[in-house]
Amino acid sequence: MTHPAIQLPTLIAHRGYSAAAPENTLAAVRAAHQSGAKWVELDVQLLGDGTPVIWHDADVARCSNGRGELATMTWANAQCLDTGSWFGDGFSGEKMASLEAMLALLNELEMGVNMEIKVNKGRDPIALVDRALPEMLSTLPPERLIISSFNASALSHCRQFASKEQLALGVLFGSVPNTWRAQCEAVEAFSVHPHWPRLKRTQAEAMHRDGYHILCYTANDPSAFHSRWEWGISSVITDEPAAFKRFLDSH
Ligand code: G3P
Ligand code: MG
Repeated sequence: MTHPAIQLPTLIAHRGYSAAAPENTLAAVRAAHQSGAKWVELDVQLLGDGTPVIWHDADVARCSNGRGELATMTWANAQCLDTGSWFGDGFSGEKMASLEAMLALLNELEMGVNMEIKVNKGRDPIALVDRALPEMLSTLPPERLIISSFNASALSHCRQFASKEQLALGVLFGSVPNTWRAQCEAVEAFSVHPHWPRLKRTQAEAMHRDGYHILCYTANDPSAFHSRWEWGISSVITDEPAAFKRFLDSH
């Protein structure tokens, strides 16, 4: 055995079904499940008091009714926020999800997760991995977990907790650098996660040839993406899993 026996889905709902529900919330994961998605992509980071939470930005201004940096917030502060009303009245009262609550929901729904270790500017990748990774490894089976990050230190530190047989790691890229292969080899990566509009066909074909699964983010226009499938792409990370599925089913 090499990597965990992950059945990669064609579509992964980005930040949950973030076109239909407030991103990175329990509601967004439930919406993804209802739409038929089997996997979600989520972002994990730490509050100032060390609590791992599911959140993308460094602060809460965009996705809540409050203000403040995660780095200075306690769990009690965070639970005072409404993280649903900004998206729509039907979601008022939604709360920031702890990693613990999110993992429980993923297990209840038997969903897989591509968990992005989100290292925002000035934050410590090691502290984040130390706090969040053991909880994920002990809660989810290896077949339903991919840990991804743009941050090389975070990925290397993850690899120290678990071998490639026990944990699938994904390397995130904006523009794919010439060093992509060395970066993947350094962490014994399972997958490469490029920003799809910047990925070149020659790069994708080399990744595929080398045995890496390719998970492209964030594609929301299935017809614009369509020609890329033959490059050897395994999965698309999308805000619009239902629309993408409708398109694929009809082509
Ligand atoms: O994991 C893919 C994608 O989520 C990376 O970018 O900014 O949406 O977290 P971002
Ligand atoms: Mg992300």
